[in-house]
Amino acid sequence: MCGIVGCVTAGADAPRILIESLKRLEYRGYDSAGVAIIKDGAIETMREVGKLSNLESTLGNSGLMGGTGLGHTRWATHGRPTEVNAHPHRDGSGRIVVVHNGIIENFRELRKELQDAGHEFASDTDSEVIAHLVQSNFSGNLTEAVHASIQRLQGAYAIGVMHADEPELIVGARKDCPLVVGLGDGENFLASDVTAVMDQTTTVVYLDDGDIATIRRESVAIQNAQGEPVEFVPTKISWSLSQAERGGYPHFMLKEIHEQPTVISDTLLGRLDEEEGEVRLEELALSDDDIREIKRVNIIACGTSWHAGQVAKFYIEQFARIPVDVDYASELRYRSPVLEKGGLMIAISQSGETADTIAAMRMAREAGCSIVGVCNVIGSTIVRESDGTIMTHAGPEIGVASTKAFVSQLVALLLLSIKLGRVRGVLTKEDVQEHCRKIRHLPKAVESVLQTENHVRKVALKYVSAQDFLFIGRGVNYPIALEGALKLKEISYIHAEGYPAGEMKHGPIALLDEKLPVVAICTKSAIYDKIVTNVEEARVRDAKMIVIANAGDEDIKEVADDVIYVPEVDEFLSPIINVVPLQLLSYFVAHERGCDVDQPRNLAKSVTVE
Ligand code: M6R
Repeated sequence: MCGIVGCVTAGADAPRILIESLKRLEYRGYDSAGVAIIKDGAIETMREVGKLSNLESTLGNSGLMGGTGLGHTRWATHGRPTEVNAHPHRDGSGRIVVVHNGIIENFRELRKELQDAGHEFASDTDSEVIAHLVQSNFSGNLTEAVHASIQRLQGAYAIGVMHADEPELIVGARKDCPLVVGLGDGENFLASDVTAVMDQTTTVVYLDDGDIATIRRESVAIQNAQGEPVEFVPTKISWSLSQAERGGYPHFMLKEIHEQPTVISDTLLGRLDEEEGEVRLEELALSDDDIREIKRVNIIACGTSWHAGQVAKFYIEQFARIPVDVDYASELRYRSPVLEKGGLMIAISQSGETADTIAAMRMAREAGCSIVGVCNVIGSTIVRESDGTIMTHAGPEIGVASTKAFVSQLVALLLLSIKLGRVRGVLTKEDVQEHCRKIRHLPKAVESVLQTENHVRKVALKYVSAQDFLFIGRGVNYPIALEGALKLKEISYIHAEGYPAGEMKHGPIALLDEKLPVVAICTKSAIYDKIVTNVEEARVRDAKMIVIANAGDEDIKEVADDVIYVPEVDEFLSPIINVVPLQLLSYFVAHERGCDVDQPRNLAKSVTVE
């Protein structure tokens, strides 16, 4: 999704600062980029289609300097990815510029109204109306003009606005899209997320919906939607910049896959009380009585987080015996779900800014449900709007394909399920103690899976030319088959489907032939024999079988073309282990095919529009 950066500084270095900040937002996905700099009482804009390096060299050649500016990476929604449609957008006078993330739903109506009043538009975007609206509302005070303009906007937006008359001012405003203000020393910043400003400052203010920030070099003032001043509390970011950098790996995705043992330890930190047989989730905001009263759980999420929700359904039903519904947030929000007062909704999101998940959460809020957000980003909208949270502590995830955040979600949801089960008396103290002992072994088990990397790479190289893949699993590993398929398709562009292995006979078996690789998750479980039968059925129809099995399972070789061994763990822990070779497999296939692993085409890291 689009990324916004802005700075008000003393020197003339804004172009460099903006480019460096935009680079940190590249992971969000984009197709064009631009900057605007205030110089000598005028605003100069430069925009380029394609990678940021194009904009960087244009800027470098121009010699443009200045202390105040705005930058933007655009992910096209309205209007093709062209230079004309790239941001920043200007008003008719050229003295006001705007950068925007989000979608203005009533832009056609506003555009018509502004055109009737004599405004001439240069682009096909919805965003350009904001620049013209601000111009029509401007009478000397930019913050007031922005306040008046956003009253007219329907939809979602985070915006940054500058006026040539105000060489040391940027104004930011948000509704349903993230925006943070970075607080520096004699300089201040604006950005879509904290990673963009971390080179400059680790002190930030997360803006709330309706907030308008007036950002000058020496001061920041925030007002709410009613125009009243907001007393803000800055947040100190604990992530280091190096955590957000590649650290020697060729891609963020590979680095993030390798971080998973540490991420699991971090997500567990301070939460397992083995002695007492308890799980401690301090910020859950549910009393034991609340937990005993839960009749049903609704889980909402999108993409990979939805797969974590599917695993959580198994966990909560098994450990706490509470019925669970799992919905795609984009589906739930447009039907008439039965959300009851007193129900529990769990919203799962890496970014905490996914538009559909936020909208579905708000529906649950209106229906009177309690909301627990399982999220990776402190201060994100989902965290702020949830009653309780479980932070996943995966650290910044930069690769667009989610890996370590998914594993941390599984761990967090497992802990939640055990807590619910213990409080409701489904699990005894001894059960929890035993689970704790096994869970503590997870980081080591994942480390040993990572040691199979070279073998997984060799397997991957055999199948790089395949046009389709099928992933099969059963029970708690069915969602892992879905996740394996999603990972492969999003970074390698190979068509892949995940299926419950028991469903093969009901249709997909017709697809099998020698050209179709089938990845089967075949680790020890209560129905191990059944999935081995499913593997055999596929194998006799000439499909190429890549099997994930437990170390020591020699018999499986008879039905497999390739086996990837992983350590044996209890079935409930197996998704956390089994997803790792699938992540590696996708990575190596995509890398070998020359794909842009960290920034796959058409995808955005944080889907802040529906
Ligand atoms: O930030 P979220 O977890 O809410 O994001 C949800 C999906 O957009 C995300 O998981 C997406 O499917 C990833 N590209 C998966 O790798």
